[in-house]
Order: sequence, then C-alpha cells, then structure tokens
Amino acid sequence: MKYGYFDDAAREYVITRPDTPLPWINYIGCEGYFGILSATAGGYSYYKDARLRRITRGRYNNVPMDFGGRYIYVRDNANGSFFSPSWMPVRGKLDAYECRHGMGYSIISGKKDGIAASTRYFVPMGENLEIWDLTVTNERSEAADLSIFSVAEFCLWDAQDDATNFQRNFSTGQVEVDDEVIYHKTEYRERRNHFAFFSCSEKLEGFDTQRENFLGAWRGWEDPKAVVDGKSDNSIAYGWQPVASNHVKLSLKPGETRRITFVLGYHENPKTEKFDPPDSQTLNKKYVKKTIAKFRDHGAVDAAFAGLKANWDTLLGKIQVKTPDIHTDRMVNVWNAYQCMATFNMSRSASTFESGIGRGLGFRDSNQDLLGFVHMVPERARERILDIAATQFASGGAYHQYQPMTKKGNNDIGGGFNDDPHWLVIGVAQYLKETGDYSILDEQVPFDTTPGTEVPLYEHLRRSLQYALDNIGPHGLPLIGQADWNDCLNLNCFSDEPGQSFQCLKGATDGKTAESVFIAGLMVLSSRELAGIAKEHGKPEDEEFYLSTSQKMDATVRQHGWDGEWFLRAYDANGHKIGSKENDEGKIFIEPQGFCVIAGIGIEDGLARKALDSVNTHLATKHGIVLQQPAYTHYYIELGEISSYPPGYKENAGIFCHNNPWVIIAETMLGNGDQAHDYYTRICPSAREEISDLHKTEPYVFSQMIAGRDAPSHGEAKNSWLTGTAAWTFFAATAYILGIRAEYDGLRVSPVIPKAWEGFSASRTYSGVVYDITVKRAGPGNSVLLVADGKPVVGTVVPLPRDGRKAVKVEAVLS
Ligand code: GLC
Ligand code: GLC
Repeated sequence: MKYGYFDDAAREYVITRPDTPLPWINYIGCEGYFGILSATAGGYSYYKDARLRRITRGRYNNVPMDFGGRYIYVRDNANGSFFSPSWMPVRGKLDAYECRHGMGYSIISGKKDGIAASTRYFVPMGENLEIWDLTVTNERSEAADLSIFSVAEFCLWDAQDDATNFQRNFSTGQVEVDDEVIYHKTEYRERRNHFAFFSCSEKLEGFDTQRENFLGAWRGWEDPKAVVDGKSDNSIAYGWQPVASNHVKLSLKPGETRRITFVLGYHENPKTEKFDPPDSQTLNKKYVKKTIAKFRDHGAVDAAFAGLKANWDTLLGKIQVKTPDIHTDRMVNVWNAYQCMATFNMSRSASTFESGIGRGLGFRDSNQDLLGFVHMVPERARERILDIAATQFASGGAYHQYQPMTKKGNNDIGGGFNDDPHWLVIGVAQYLKETGDYSILDEQVPFDTTPGTEVPLYEHLRRSLQYALDNIGPHGLPLIGQADWNDCLNLNCFSDEPGQSFQCLKGATDGKTAESVFIAGLMVLSSRELAGIAKEHGKPEDEEFYLSTSQKMDATVRQHGWDGEWFLRAYDANGHKIGSKENDEGKIFIEPQGFCVIAGIGIEDGLARKALDSVNTHLATKHGIVLQQPAYTHYYIELGEISSYPPGYKENAGIFCHNNPWVIIAETMLGNGDQAHDYYTRICPSAREEISDLHKTEPYVFSQMIAGRDAPSHGEAKNSWLTGTAAWTFFAATAYILGIRAEYDGLRVSPVIPKAWEGFSASRTYSGVVYDITVKRAGPGNSVLLVADGKPVVGTVVPLPRDGRKAVKVEAVLS
C-alpha cells in the first residue's frame, strides 16, 4: 500500500495522508541553518550542530513519535472550532490533506469546512533562518472571521542539557519582545552571544512566549488554551519554557486568499556588541532588524524560494539520466543525489533515528559520503577532506569521529578502527579524479589538530598506508583493531558488563592476532589508489611501492583469506576463522565478497565469480542481501556487538544496505548488469513504494537497514536518510551500472546495464564540461565503441577537450 506518489516533474514526493507508518521527514537548510521537517510539521531546527546549537526542541521516545514542531492553528471565530492544516498536533479529521516534500522545502496543506491553509517551509540560501509561508483561502460562499496561531518551542541551546538538567533549566529561560518580534535569549547575559527570533509579516493580535500560558495547565499541543479561547496571553517567559507564538486575525471575503509569513531565525552578535545600549542587558538587534524587515515582504520570500530552487537545479543538473527504468531515473536524478547532500550536511547526527545529541562526524563515514557529493560541491568536499585529515594521528591512525563545531577528534571513542585511514585515500582519489585539483596534495595539514605538526596532505595519505603496514597480523593480513567497517565485529574487546562500550574496551587482548580480510581487500584497493595518486603527483618510486604493496596483499588474501567458496571475514583473537564453512553460525559475510572483488582480487581466476555466486546462494533475499548467515543466535563475547542484536537486525544478518552496492559494483565488474540492477532494485526505495506498509520508512530515500530473513519483520526498513547507503548506491548506479565515472585522464563511459535495456542517455558535468551521452545497445554484451564529437575514441575514456570547449557529445554502442 502507498501513502503518496512521486511527482517527478516537480521533484517532489507527495504524501496524501498524514498517518504514514513512521514520520516521513524532509530536511530544510543546506548551509548553516538546518531543520528536520516531517509531513505533519514535526521536527526541530539547529545551527550547525544539532546538540550544541539546538534552536527548537525535539523530544525523545515521544508518543506519538513525531510530536512537537512548527505548528499552525486555524480557528473559526464564529464557532470556536479549529484545526491544524498539517493534521498534527490537533489531529482532527481534515477534508483534505497533502504534504509535498521537495528539494529543501516542504509544502503542507490542509482543508476544513471550506477554509484551506497551506504552509511552505524552507530556509533561504545565505540566511540563518526558516520561513513558514502560510496561505489561507476562504472557499466558502460567505465571509470568514479567522484567528491564526503559530507556535514553536525553544530549546535552551544544548539539547542534551535541555532534555535532562531541569533543576537549572526551569530558571534560566529569557526572552524579549520588541516591535512584535519575539527574541529568545537564554544564557545570553553570560557566555552566549547568539539568540533566536520569531517574527511575523502581519500585525499581531497577541503573542505568547511562556509555554504554559499558551497551552494552559495540564493541556497539550492539541488544544492550547490560547487557541480554544481565541486569545493570546501576551506572556513574557522568565524561566520555565520559552516559546514563540503569534496570533493574527483574518477576515476573509468569499474566495479571498491572504498570506502570512512567519520567520524563525538564529543570529550571533560580535562578542563586543552584545548589548544595545552597550552598558545595558538589552539585546543588540541592529543586525537582525534588516533581515526581519526584508522578509515581511512577500516578494522577498518568493525571491528567496526561487533562489533555493535554482541552487538545487544547479546541483542536480550535474548528473541527469534517462533510462528505461523509472526508479533508476528518479533516484539518480533527484532523490538519491538529494540524500547524498543530506548525509554530507547532517552526517549521522539528526534524523528520526539519530537524536542529534550523539555522534560527531565519522572518519570513515565522511570519506565514503564524499563519493556521493563530490561532483555537486567539489569545493566543500575539499574543505571536508582537509578537516578530516587534520584529525589523523602522526602514526597514520585516526580518530574514529570528530566534532563538527570544534573539528577536533573525539577522545571518548579515540582511534584504532583500522579501516579508517584507508578511506581517506579512497576519498582523496575520488576528489582528484573528479576535480583534477592536485594542489590539495600540497596543503599543509596538522596531525591531531595540533598547530606546528603540519605536513602536506600527500604525506597524510602515505601515513595511512604506513599505519596499515605497521599493523599486520600473523597471517600477513591487516590487524582489525577495535573494529573495521563493521562497527559491531569487535574481536579485541570481550565486553561483558551492561553499558560498557563494545568497541572501546581495551586490554582484553594485546590486539596482535585478530585480522580482517575486509581491510585486506580495502587495502588492495587503497594502495592501488595511492599508487595512482603518486603517479599523478610525480612520485614514480612511491607509485611502484604502493603497486607492489597492493599486489602482495592480493596474494595474501588468496592464501589466507579464501575459504573455498567465498572470502573469509576475519581471524579472531584466538586465531580462529570467522565467516568460514568451519563455523556453525556466521559462515559467510557480505563485506569481503563485495570489497575483495571491487579491489579486483580473483577476477581473473574465477574466485571473484565464485564469491559472488555464494552471495547469491546464501545471502540474497527479495528485500536485499543480508550481512551474514546463519545469524548469530546468542551472544559470543569474542565477537562482540554483532551478536548482541536479535537475528535479522542490523549487523546480525540484517540487510545492511550500505554494503549491497559493493556487491552491485562487483557484479558490474564481472560484467553482470542484470544481476547488478536486480540487486539495486531490491533495496531501491522507489521500487519498494508499493510495499510502504511493510517497508515503513520514506519511499524516497534509502534506509540503513532492512530486516533480514531471520527477523519476523523481514522487509521492514529502519534508520532512513543518514547512511553510507546514499553515497554508495548513487556511486554504484551512476559510475558502474550506467558506467559513467571520473578518471584521471577523462570521463569513462563503460556501462554494464541489463540486457533488456536498449540504451539510455545522460548528461554529466565533469570538470566544468557537459558531456551529453547516448548509449545504444547493438548486442547483449558490455563491449563499448565510443565516438566523441564525431571522432572515434580509443578505449572507454573520453578525455577533456583540449581546446577549452565546454560541451562534448558522446555516442556509445554496446555489443
Ligand atoms: C554505521 C556506521 C558506519 C559503519 C556501519 C556498519 O552505519 O555509521 O561507520 O561502518 O554502521 O557497522
Ligand atoms: C551501533 C550500530 C552500528 C553503528 C554503531 C555506531 O554499533 O549497530 O550500526 O555503526 O553503533 O557507533
């Protein structure tokens, strides 16, 4: 069953009923000001850091789950009845409801008794504020006398503290109301120089800034006293719970439409200009007053919305395709690219499943995310790479996470996740292939963000590999450390106390035995990529060294990492095999099959084919490929968190979507476009739209996990939006199935598409040149004949035009 539909031309998903199986969210903001926005106007906003600069409140473990947000109430003053056009929080029966989630905006509309109200929510480019652009129409044949109430609940900035430290919080809240604008300034008197404001384009009838005055004692958001009475209390918060609520009266003639704009914004004053006058305690509002005045004008609001649209047109315009498959088209052209920007902006911090008070930016996550957005915002990818590299240690090891506000490594988690350094090499290689900006290799970057330790970025990459070479185990394979890509395979921790970290417990072993075949595969690839970088950087000796490093590890994997039918997963701290036919449970894992083949191991001698056939036999289900089989039925202390999950969930035999695209890419490398696209379709949210009741998460974005076959809820997705799945599926679909990928010497066009496809077309901007590509099938295979601007091309890479032309026409024939 479906809860809406794709409006492909408008680049919107249209939700047609509010009771979706889970909150179906969107994000507003893509620079510094961000918000989560559900289809029923739920969610919260923050500036840059979802924990430390939370502007509005989110509640955890709420019932219903999605409660609290950017609410509007429409009251009929003739009889006192009222409704919320977003259904929540009033939840009364509406005569019509619709939510259009678009690129950086959502439009939520509801109708009741002939009054239609629609709110367009968005964050203008270049501004630290969100706009609630409300339109109210009287569709009755007689005049309507209405009251509009808006409300948002402020968070006292530190979201963790806000949700726990009540003995202090109930006494710190402060606001000012000036010229009908509400200013939230808790803690501004002392250590903060930032505040929030809430303004309205229309003359107010009243306002409230103290939550309980608005709601009334013992009442909830569904029937606030102010709305029931049709009258605000003009309350000034002093401690307790500051909110921003406006009351506007509207008299609408039959057929008349009126527009009201509310603005919720954030501002930081210079430390020396906090107060106005300087010796007072009154907020200096000088800098925001202009902004507030600007958006009281509807023309400015429309211009800002047009600017947002233009921004997304530019970003999405970098890759546009037309294939025989609607799901591929809408994911590649719109939603998957959009999700890649969300993972770039949000990392793993704020979603329905990430509270915004947990993790910082992951070293491995951010490097992989880059694969999905570097073609859209290369300059921001550059900045991100330099930030990440600055958290590396001089040993080449790395902090597992760093904090976005301070950009410093997170000491609670520390380092020792031995796959981490390799991802930096892979991220940088992709950046270089996309941009040709070799100057980044000479950028001076510190270790552990310590001034004075700077070395060129290129040296960081060398240390990444040196760290791997310094951490080799008894079989010549890389030592796993705290964990590799699979955070939950913890072979050195032996955690046995509730609450202990599964990953960070040190001392149970000396760490010198447990090895990872997955990291080995990753290292075969990363050292080959580093060899490629060395070549471009004019370091032939390095190139040779890393090529031989790659070949040696390839040989070691064949010798000690092959189990007969598939690649082994690891050796544990006792030197026992994991992911082997010798095991009772966890005999075969997906990660080494996908990644060893991506690295090219066993392609020539058939091991790769065998490994992927084993994936198909043992791991593939109709809802995607599970992580391992058989699932662990009890806790194995020597394996760690993986065996803590019930069978079929998360790393314990869930369909962990992130690594499905590795198998997809691997299948294309073996020339199997049918299998690759089939696997793609199984986890593709758009292709799963019809089973929304089972799938449960948004049909427009990938989820981290779909329950595996061992779970009673097989096929049910969780943890949508913020997952490495976004970047990897985008990369798999565009660069490997459609086969259009950036290389050092040009743009490769080497599709491995399903046999039934007669071809496809694509437009791909690469290094500022627009490649207009048409692919036609003349035979069932994957051999490509390329013609660029009428001239035959040798091989499958179309070089950049030497004469500065900004467009190239490519015709490809497959046979
Ligand atoms: C989560 C983490 C990622 C990890 C994966 C598998 O998605 O963010 O770093 O690789 O889980 O454990
Ligand atoms: C848990 C999750 C895993 C995630 C990790 C992040 O272990 O199962 O997916 O990567 O937390 O810390």
